[in-house]
Amino acid sequence: MTSVGIDAIEIRTGKLFLDLPNTFAPVKGEDPEKYTKGLGLYTSSFPDVYEDIVTMGANAAKSLMDRKGLEPEDIGRIDVATESAFDNSKPVSTYIAGCLEQVYDGDFRHANKGERKFACIAGTQSLDDAYNWIKAGRNRGRAALVIATDTALYERGDPGEATQGAGAVAMLIDEDPDLVELSTEQGYGSMDETDFLKPNQQFPSVDGKRSMQVYLARMREALEDYESVAGRTHPADFEYIPFHTPFPGMVRKAALLGFRHMSRDTEIEDELADEIGRQPREADFETWDDYEEAIRGYMDDLKTTEQYRDWYDRVIDPTIDISSRVGNWYTGSVHIARLSALKIAAEEGKEMAGKKLLVGSYGSGAQAEIHAETVQDTWLDEIDAVDVDSQLEDRTEITFDDYELIHDVHNHEKEIEVEEFTQPEGEFVFTGWGRMNERRYEYVE
Ligand code: COA
Repeated sequence: MTSVGIDAIEIRTGKLFLDLPNTFAPVKGEDPEKYTKGLGLYTSSFPDVYEDIVTMGANAAKSLMDRKGLEPEDIGRIDVATESAFDNSKPVSTYIAGCLEQVYDGDFRHANKGERKFACIAGTQSLDDAYNWIKAGRNRGRAALVIATDTALYERGDPGEATQGAGAVAMLIDEDPDLVELSTEQGYGSMDETDFLKPNQQFPSVDGKRSMQVYLARMREALEDYESVAGRTHPADFEYIPFHTPFPGMVRKAALLGFRHMSRDTEIEDELADEIGRQPREADFETWDDYEEAIRGYMDDLKTTEQYRDWYDRVIDPTIDISSRVGNWYTGSVHIARLSALKIAAEEGKEMAGKKLLVGSYGSGAQAEIHAETVQDTWLDEIDAVDVDSQLEDRTEITFDDYELIHDVHNHEKEIEVEEFTQPEGEFVFTGWGRMNERRYEYVE
């Protein structure tokens, strides 16, 4: 059986950052700890004037191709996942391919290009498409480029404004991958929901609180569906569990629910029984409300136990580090959660070869997907090669007034001239509109 998975990852963050507790919270009249302790966010990335989903995606893809020594002919497929597209017909992947063709000798004439849409889960769906294409033997020995790229902006004043972010993740999907192999087994939880949507509008209509409930409900269904094919899961089975991370506080909720589910009917539930009792069972309650109240009480107790806290610190906390510094990258966010965990494993000198990850993706609207991944022997070289820290450290800090300007620059309804905050170097930049209103790009040496 061919082993298929992620061969390499590169990221590209927006080059500006906003300090949430120290700059954003005071202007909004909010307690900075709402950000650091509640949402789990410190800074969020924003694109400079000449950056957008195409430049960030193309710059991440170019870093990845250069590092892996690839030419366009080695790529048989370019899938872009985004919920920030600016064109309802021409896919972002064609813009990105056009950028890359400016700097490579060959072209992507025989590569299949597309664009995936299902809110934040589209990045994982694109991985899936690439996986299936290779497994079906249709790739002719070529690899797939999957690019998750988003500018996650909300209307000013919307509660979601606190969780904004911008960046791209480029992933190379190939046979005999160097980083992680994807499991054939996967589970879905999918329902028609109205929690977050953009009906022909740039900024989302969001029911934030509802979106959190829907995330948890669909994730639980996806886990049950995954277990129906892969067998029961146990908290000790997985070295890390990267979840879709719209903000780290969301992951804290998902992790607690996941731990409760995975530890039910195990020795962990037995060990905890003296301290917090056994998990409430629906059959023992007369009404659903009584059952729910008992579950809430159990969860409140569970999160204070040493077993849970140890597990959270080991398995979940490393997945949210990058997210806490960049904000929401929508389609890329679960993929930076995986990267964050593996990067911390590398820093701690952890041996990860052969270890398992459980990956929980989610997209509003709504769908969750769960699959497992096996870390490959060559993982460390791959992770050591990704320059996350230098990219984040090199970002330029903006004031609140700058933030308002940059928000307007990227607002499709507004036309304002703003001086760029940084100087582009060795990267693709947006240069303006062409005669058919297409966006135009150039590589700057
Ligand atoms: N110290 C510590 N924690 C604090 C705090 C303080 N001073 N002030 C607030 N908090 C906590 C709150 O208790 C809450 O945590 P909880 O949910 O565990 O109770 C958290 O910080 C957020 O505060 P809240 O008042 O609920 O924020 P909000 O009303 O601004 O809304 C979202 C938060 C997430 C709903 C909003 O940012 C949003 O709509 N985001 C976009 C949608 C999204 O990302 N959905 C996720 C699914 S994809």
